[in-house]
Amino acid sequence: MRSILAALPALSLLFSAPALAEEVASASSPDGHITVSIDWDGEGHFSYAIARDGTPLIENSRLGFLMDNAPPISRFLELADVQTDRADMTWEQPWGENRQVRDNHIELSLELLDTAFEDRSLTVRFRLFDDGVGFRYEFPESAGRTEIAEELTEFNIAQPGTAWWIRGGDWNRYEYLYDETPIDAVGTAHTPITFKLADGTHLAFHEAALVDYAGMWMRRMDGRRFRAELSPGSGQAKVVRDGAFTTPWRTIRIAKDAAGLYDNNIDLNLNEPNKLGDVGWVKPYKYVGIWWAMHLNEWTWNSGPDHGATTQHAKDYIDFAAENGFRGVLIEGWNKGWDGNWFGNGSDFSFTEAYPDFDIEEVTRYGLSKGVHLVGHHETGGNIAVYEPQLEDAMALYERLGVDSVKTGYVADAGGVKLLPTGDAPLRYGWHDGQEMARHHLKVVETAARHRIAVNPHEPIKDTGLRRTYPNWVSREGARGMEYQAWGVPGNIPSHVPSLIFSRMLSGPMDYTPGVLSLKGRDGRDLPSTIARQLALYLVLYSPIQMAADLPENYARYPDAFAFIKQVPTDWEESHVLQGEVADYAVMARKERGGQDWYVGGVTDENARSVSVSLDFLDADKSYTATIYRDGADADYRTETRHSIAIESKPVQRGDMLDLTMAPGGGFAVRLTPVG
Ligand code: NOJ
Ligand code: CA
Repeated sequence: MRSILAALPALSLLFSAPALAEEVASASSPDGHITVSIDWDGEGHFSYAIARDGTPLIENSRLGFLMDNAPPISRFLELADVQTDRADMTWEQPWGENRQVRDNHIELSLELLDTAFEDRSLTVRFRLFDDGVGFRYEFPESAGRTEIAEELTEFNIAQPGTAWWIRGGDWNRYEYLYDETPIDAVGTAHTPITFKLADGTHLAFHEAALVDYAGMWMRRMDGRRFRAELSPGSGQAKVVRDGAFTTPWRTIRIAKDAAGLYDNNIDLNLNEPNKLGDVGWVKPYKYVGIWWAMHLNEWTWNSGPDHGATTQHAKDYIDFAAENGFRGVLIEGWNKGWDGNWFGNGSDFSFTEAYPDFDIEEVTRYGLSKGVHLVGHHETGGNIAVYEPQLEDAMALYERLGVDSVKTGYVADAGGVKLLPTGDAPLRYGWHDGQEMARHHLKVVETAARHRIAVNPHEPIKDTGLRRTYPNWVSREGARGMEYQAWGVPGNIPSHVPSLIFSRMLSGPMDYTPGVLSLKGRDGRDLPSTIARQLALYLVLYSPIQMAADLPENYARYPDAFAFIKQVPTDWEESHVLQGEVADYAVMARKERGGQDWYVGGVTDENARSVSVSLDFLDADKSYTATIYRDGADADYRTETRHSIAIESKPVQRGDMLDLTMAPGGGFAVRLTPVG
């Protein structure tokens, strides 16, 4: 193995060094292109920098913490030890975009000693991959009680460029349209945040394995220098831990183009392996539900004459699901507590008692007799104090009834989550991504796992790759989904999806709930989409569970397009971005798991776009039939022609090019099936 320690001065030299930045350690990625170097400035500050092929990407960026119960960890640090390691392994996902994932990295860990305060120490561990870098802090057992007021981790971007971001710390959690600005015009942003630098390099910053810690926002301090800002605590330190613990990994994806940001697994690789053992009970599936009718204002969640979740409606949906091959039926509004003001309140929710017009025993029995599973629903209104005490009973009820997945919900303004009472404070409010909610979500996932139930939270905490460790955490919302096309002002503009693909979707699956073929929202408003684009969403917005969100009567009006939704898989052997630019367009190819079919999906922004797709991923010794769902020649999301779709079949093989034109606000979906 070649030496990866470029320079490590003797400690005696370090201690006598002048107050000038000096490189004290460095390491390179397995392919040698990406280098992390560690600087020490003689006053005891440590910083890191990242370059690719000698070109700086991240300039010296400080490391450290502010504490509530101790002096800052920032100055007065010394390098006590440096270790390196390397790993190259491949592991398998039980479900996902890719079955096999390679984890090939070099590790550099630095033990820092703070002689100015009780000889405390801290390890900073870097992992360098060929396509990015992750690093985290590790506190030893001797740290005792750690009360973190703020993290001082910096990200000092070396070149000007463009940023795509949503704001952090604002009232609507993660549900914003993306801003596209120069890097030096970003404010406080959520992660993932995506950058394109002047030399074309693409970066995306995020975090992996957010466990018992506060979520990280990125706040621009000046120029292109960002600093971690932790989601607030509730009148206390932002993070409180006892004894040894590790922070989440801070991750930086590095790619030469947008596609390379997506085809990247560093966040999953930085999570712990599956802790649940055999998870054969976690099933990818498609579902329909008593849902869109409420968003259209045709039915209600609450009880009354227009109540959606009635036994009869549920049976009708079960019949529809059985006839069309959907495994699941989501039923929202089945349980008591929706009457009155539940938004941001949730004090009346019962998670075990149904409204009188919903016979949950009969509905689940009827469903299972037809091979259809009810998808459970726990809307909390953001009230954890009411939900957590009922959690065990609620999951036990679902398990008894054969309900093996649940959608949860936390509808409350950011900062308005009602937390569990503590001894000295009976009523406390917190943030959706604060430390206590990070804890809460894992508690729900672990409790559900004991009952062999999969979880899909809406208004969630962001995804940080924990699906690797807890494979029953199958999907989540955490961005503007289809519901905004029913009632959002504005709705999701056409650039939203190609923005999501290269930012939010880097973090993991999203329950976007596609497939509204009527292209109609509340009060007859038009969706800014073509019909072919609705099909493309199943391919470009990955989730192992996918909804067919529209009303059954609307699917009856579009049987040819519906045929695609009925058969599209939700679990993949491998996935690739073939072409794309952030916020402009994306073309993706995926091979179904357990079969030989390939799929290609494309979406564009408000501009029409023609793409030439090389079919060189197909098997050379097979011939294929391509079934193409594309925008009609006159299709346009702005006019009545948005329903114009052309569906055609033709023979293709490896080496062929598929030329496809997307309408403004359009897209396409292609299925490639081997012949014979
Ligand atoms: C917001 C969720 O995103 C949506 O899917 C759900 O229908 C409502 N909350 C009610 O729980
Ligand atoms: Ca939502």
